[in-house]
Amino acid sequence: MVSAQTEKNPKNYSMTAKDIHKYFGGVKALEGATVAITKNKLISLIGPNGSGKTTLFNVITCWLSKTDPREAEEAEETEESFRGNIMNWLSKKFGSNGKEELEEIGSVMFEDLKIDGLSTHEAALTGMMRTFQTTRNWPKLTVLENLLVAPHRQTGESFLNLFFRRGKIKKEERENTLKALEILEFLEITHIRDQLGEELSGGQLKLLALGRLLMTAPRLILLDEPMAGVNPTLGNKIMDKILELKVDSTIFLIEHNMDVVFNYSDEIFVMARGKIIAQGTPNEIETNREVIEAYLGADY
Ligand SMILES: Nc1ncnc2c1ncn2[C@@H]1O[C@H](COP(=O)(O)OP(=O)(O)O)[C@@H](O)[C@H]1O
Ligand SMILES: [Mg+2]
Repeated sequence: MVSAQTEKNPKNYSMTAKDIHKYFGGVKALEGATVAITKNKLISLIGPNGSGKTTLFNVITCWLSKTDPREAEEAEETEESFRGNIMNWLSKKFGSNGKEELEEIGSVMFEDLKIDGLSTHEAALTGMMRTFQTTRNWPKLTVLENLLVAPHRQTGESFLNLFFRRGKIKKEERENTLKALEILEFLEITHIRDQLGEELSGGQLKLLALGRLLMTAPRLILLDEPMAGVNPTLGNKIMDKILELKVDSTIFLIEHNMDVVFNYSDEIFVMARGKIIAQGTPNEIETNREVIEAYLGADY
């Protein structure tokens, strides 16, 4: 078997996450989740609350590190038994626990790059970008400024320049401003452009997060419930805009609104208890819907 480090993604995949485990103490949020995300498609991830969707996004984007289930079990045993403690001490002291010989469990590849093991910051510079279920922004900057910060933050440049050189804004910065204004208009939030991030409602924050995403050009976009708290008309408009992004990007979407999921996805992954239990086109998933509902309950 090829080891995780040397394995490359087939060219048509943007990202693959294989056999991912994540334990929070005794809570097994992910138990061997595997997804392969085809380039330039919109792929959805559905499943009941608490099934591990957000945790999977967190591991993919390096906001959380994956768990090695063998180490977790070992730690549990060690905690339980005095003998375990002694053995652990002995193996540490004499270095013969043989861990190096074990093949790594679980891997995340973004294009040809091994992602798991990177810091959150490093992962953010690889060309993948995410939005959050609970939206984050710069609370003391205005909506417009929040958008202008986005592309600079992405490339790691100093964005403060923008505020110190207001008098002679360079061409690139003017273009960014024009782009930001266009995005505000598209999202129908021009009227709040001078409001501070901290003054926005939940729905407005979602729109701002999408706006920041539209300012940059990530190759992989991970969206965690972007429609929650947004009215359906605007929600559909946003989805249409997201579809346009497929020309240059791949979209991985967590969404509870099944109409959105079934109308817009190229492929759907169904998650339950930390595992993918079904995968297919909307038609294929629809065909299996009864089976899935029987397994998950109607509420997924
Ligand atoms: N930081 C954390 N600490 C402890 N438990 C967590 C943490 N994050 C998630 N969990 C648990 O992991 C499971 C999966 O959560 P989550 O990935 O948020 O599910 P979903 O996004 O599908 O609703 C849940 O049981 C949740 O309570
Ligand atoms: Mg979630």
